[in-house]
Amino acid sequence: MSKGLYLVKILVQFMSVKTLQKELGYTKYTLGERLSYYEPSKNISQKTFAQELSQSIKQKQKSINPKFFYNEKGSELFEKICVLPEYYLTRTEISLLKQIDGKLQSYLDGDFRLVELGSGSAQKTRLLIDMLTRLQKHVEYFPIDISKILKNSSTVLQSDYKKLHITGIIDNYENGLEFVKNYDDMKNLIVFLGSSLGNFDPESGIIFLQKINSSMKKGDLFLVGLDLVKDKDVLCQAYNDSQGITAQFNLNILSRINSELGGNFDTSKFVHYAVYNENQNKIEMYLRSLVKQTVKIPNADLMLEIDEDELIHTENSHKYTISQIEQMFAITGYEIQAMWNDDNRYYSLILLSKK
Ligand code: AVI
Repeated sequence: MSKGLYLVKILVQFMSVKTLQKELGYTKYTLGERLSYYEPSKNISQKTFAQELSQSIKQKQKSINPKFFYNEKGSELFEKICVLPEYYLTRTEISLLKQIDGKLQSYLDGDFRLVELGSGSAQKTRLLIDMLTRLQKHVEYFPIDISKILKNSSTVLQSDYKKLHITGIIDNYENGLEFVKNYDDMKNLIVFLGSSLGNFDPESGIIFLQKINSSMKKGDLFLVGLDLVKDKDVLCQAYNDSQGITAQFNLNILSRINSELGGNFDTSKFVHYAVYNENQNKIEMYLRSLVKQTVKIPNADLMLEIDEDELIHTENSHKYTISQIEQMFAITGYEIQAMWNDDNRYYSLILLSKK
């Protein structure tokens, strides 16, 4: 390519990125030659923590959205959960990723950009970046995460991989996917690991899968990790660990309400409670009140009356059967390219393309 043509190409690319930034209302921050991130210039239609909480906690079944687990402390506790002996999910997924490395590679025809929903655990991301680094001259990684933690983890990653270019998108998954969809015509390998889909209720899970599907181009791939239905005791232990880390993780959501919304929850008056709902194949997580109590949350304009033994719902974690998985992806517009399970059939990695 001549130098002139090259400059025109760069200029056009620069202009289209600029237009995109303006249209989607993002500001780009450059932290280094190979590290930048986009953040929405203003938080347009996002409900605040106070608004969401005041709706969900006023229902007959009080509930708090599990996305609020992940403040700094909650994210730290989740990292600890991932290495607990009872929490088989993370290590099973990691060993599956290691096992299928060569097979996954055979589905990648040409260069792919890695797009990760949730900036993910460094270990899993590294396995995928390792694979792309072996195959490609240049590797692009787009983590999409609402949390700014993304900036720290990305700094470490880019200093470890010299071929790696990181563009973080600090936004919710839906907006992040929209951003990626309009970015350019490079093929994307979108990954959504850790069975995080299981934390959506079934209807919103389907809508979310359709959203991912509509953001994919022909040739893009989607790799998703899902926890499978299994022995009830194994499941219950994974969410009731002997060190009580899951309990701390669950209770931390109340401390977060106290520090961010001025609440006066006494966390010693609540206990962690997690059960397996066999009819709906899901772990249900709650905080159980030990006494009848009144809690004030001034910044959300709330005064809560909570009965002794009343449960506040904090999370569902759905488990899947193989036939449910097949059905779920069939109705959301995907073709299953491959499905890899561990020997115990505890966990599944599914590689999908757009139908
Ligand atoms: C993030 N998510 C997939 C975890 C799960 O297993 O549902 C969150 C979690 N809750 C309690 N332990 C882990």
